[in-house]
Amino acid sequence: MQCTASTSAPARSPRRPSRRSRLARVAASATVACAALAAVAPVHAQVRGEPNDGQVMLGFWFDSADPYHDTPSIINEKLGVNVPVFQMAQSIPLPPYNYTTGAGGPAPENQIERSATDAHVFLTVYPNNGFDAITDDDFTALGKQILDYQQNLNRTVFLRYAPEMQGLWMEYGQQPVAFNQSWHNMYYLVKAVAPETIMVWAPNTPQGYPYGQTGTAYTSLSAADQALLDTNQNGVLDAGDDPFGPYYPGDDVVDWIGLSVYYKGIPSDTENTRQPEGYCSQIIRGINPESGVAIEPWYVPYCEQKPDKACMFAEMGAAYHTSDTTGISQAQLQQNWLTDCVFSETMYDTFPRIKLYMQFEYEKDETANDGSIDHRDFRVTNTTEVVASMRADISSIGTRFTWAQSRAPPTSISSAGAPAATNSAGQSIIQAITATTRPRPTTFPSLFGSTSDGTQRAEWAELGILVASGVLGAWAVMRTL
Ligand SMILES: *[C@@H]1O[C@H](CO)[C@@H](O)[C@H](O)[C@H]1NC(C)=O
Ligand SMILES: *[C@@H]1O[C@H](CO)[C@@H](O)[C@H](O)[C@H]1NC(C)=O
Ligand SMILES: *[C@@H]1O[C@H](CO)[C@@H](O)[C@H](O)[C@H]1NC(C)=O
Ligand SMILES: *[C@@H]1O[C@H](CO)[C@@H](O)[C@H](O)[C@H]1NC(C)=O
Repeated sequence: MQCTASTSAPARSPRRPSRRSRLARVAASATVACAALAAVAPVHAQVRGEPNDGQVMLGFWFDSADPYHDTPSIINEKLGVNVPVFQMAQSIPLPPYNYTTGAGGPAPENQIERSATDAHVFLTVYPNNGFDAITDDDFTALGKQILDYQQNLNRTVFLRYAPEMQGLWMEYGQQPVAFNQSWHNMYYLVKAVAPETIMVWAPNTPQGYPYGQTGTAYTSLSAADQALLDTNQNGVLDAGDDPFGPYYPGDDVVDWIGLSVYYKGIPSDTENTRQPEGYCSQIIRGINPESGVAIEPWYVPYCEQKPDKACMFAEMGAAYHTSDTTGISQAQLQQNWLTDCVFSETMYDTFPRIKLYMQFEYEKDETANDGSIDHRDFRVTNTTEVVASMRADISSIGTRFTWAQSRAPPTSISSAGAPAATNSAGQSIIQAITATTRPRPTTFPSLFGSTSDGTQRAEWAELGILVASGVLGAWAVMRTL
């Protein structure tokens, strides 16, 4: 909020009295708000990729794997608008592309080309084999891939590197020193090739931190990592430690700041219960919605107080537990989620620096707090009623959104399973080598995130699986490929 506006607005001497009184009312309420914020809220610059003041973007993940075959075009068709950002994932180092299975290789950017809009590419890059496995050449290759999207396909590109870096469910998790070093390496090597890349730093929700990763999970870390993580310096890693600060690489190497936010059920994470009102707002203001206990705030320090950063929910959704037939319906659960967290003018007005809300449009198995495997459907476009209510929301508050523009696709996009194609400039477009159906990525976001003792058990169960069978084994349990 620009507090100076509260005094200048009425001085503009509007012609019509009705307009004046409305402005005066706005000014009066702005003055009250400014009194509270005066000392803290800096004026923000418009960051690359950010829509105009007062506007937000709605982004989507899409599951192109069998049997879903979801695509940007299908999502646009269902919603009746052109979604402006689509997220895709790949590993670094990039595994070779397998022409038979469609596995490996770069993310399926050609699906965004096929949608015939100018939507932004949101690329998540997971260091699935740890930071040490990545060479400088891998980052340079990533830069070239992104430059290709920017120059030859005229796309704005967000790069979210090593997200949810606090969690041991990620191969690269809970290593703040190595994360910071790798981030800086990534930043300079990718920006050297593709300077317009938008760098997104995106930790996991503070709910439940440190996610049970205490005891030997903490004491086996290097002294430097332990010192960074124990922010309250009481000798142990606990809920009193800052989940974000030890991993923040610095204002000079970050463009946007994200967060993973999910609703998985209160009080039980296997039952379909109504989400408490203000759920998302409480999490980002620093209140655990389940217990009311204070958690680390995200919005004020990372969004409001950073004048040259924009913010996003980098991944978000509500879990419908398909095995629970007694709770609220999937339509009710998803509609609650959307009303509270996504199609909410209160959210946009209260948290104006959140400029992108990115829906995790997947279903998958997760380990519940009681140790069982729980099938969770996060998809909001898979239920006719929810699609209808989203269309209604879009038509009622659609002016708060920016959408993508339609445009012709490039003259040559590879067909299913075909090798590299050439683009309209006659250059090889490596991102297009992908079958329409690919296996899912081998690392998945946000397995955890609520805050009970039970959650910690679930995390330890998950870690046990990771330790016992390696990442692939854990993956096989979480989701059948
Ligand atoms: C591609 O995947 C198939 C099926 O898993 C496998 O048999 C083949 O060896 C793979 N090709 C390469 C080049 O790795
Ligand atoms: C690139 O895309 C932007 C946004 O759609 C558009 O305004 C611009 O004209 C495009 N540039 C070229 C060279 O096509
Ligand atoms: C990350 O690295 C930078 C550059 O070395 C340093 O200035 C910053 O303090 C580090 N951040 C953390 C949280 O360690
Ligand atoms: C929901 O997804 C399933 C695949 O999981 C698909 O068969 C079905 O048609 C989808 N329903 C709607 C309404 O989109």
